[in-house]
Amino acid sequence: MKNFLTNETGLQKVLIPQNRLQERVSGLGQEISQAFDGKDLAIVAILKGSFIFAADLIRAMNIQCSIDFMGISSYVDKPSSGVVRITKDLDESIAGRNVLLVEDIIDTGLTANYLLHTLKQRKPASVDICALLDKSARRLIDLPIPYRGFEIPDVFVVGYGMDYQQHYRNLPHIAILRLNGGQKAPPGATESDQANNKNVS
Ligand code: IMP
Repeated sequence: MKNFLTNETGLQKVLIPQNRLQERVSGLGQEISQAFDGKDLAIVAILKGSFIFAADLIRAMNIQCSIDFMGISSYVDKPSSGVVRITKDLDESIAGRNVLLVEDIIDTGLTANYLLHTLKQRKPASVDICALLDKSARRLIDLPIPYRGFEIPDVFVVGYGMDYQQHYRNLPHIAILRLNGGQKAPPGATESDQANNKNVS
């Protein structure tokens, strides 16, 4: 049996190894703990991509917080509008609370921007974004990201909760997928991703 996690299948190029992820997530946990010390903090994690990041992040924090999840999916007919369908809404009210929106990756920024507006309509005391990865080269909208793990280049990544066609979420690191010549690019991936992936050695 080929070991998927150690890349014996040769499908991935590691972009961020597990130890760097752990270090950075721990740093983010400390930053957030300092910023929200003594405040009523509601973590809102966006499914599915942020579930592993959120689980590690809250364990790196040493202040009280609640955690709730929102499931979203893009509309097939308008995938790049940023308007998303809420497939699972929050269980608790966020009115009057300090919300931290936890995202796996900000790409064009349209999804996070839409979510920010949706959450603000529910009258929280504040809403801030915490994103593990920032692909700022593809940003279409100006978005404040006060808590950011890593800036990454314009490549399609998987692992640590992030998927390609629902696979690769269980990789303990962040990897760039190696696409074979004839393979279709992931949704949101650009032609340069395909070129990059072909060049992975
Ligand atoms: P945005 O609206 O363009 O910022 O897209 C954000 C969403 O697209 C993320 O929450 C991910 O679900 C997905 N996404 C964007 N880039 C990647 C990637 O490189 N790998 C996996 N998912 C991605």
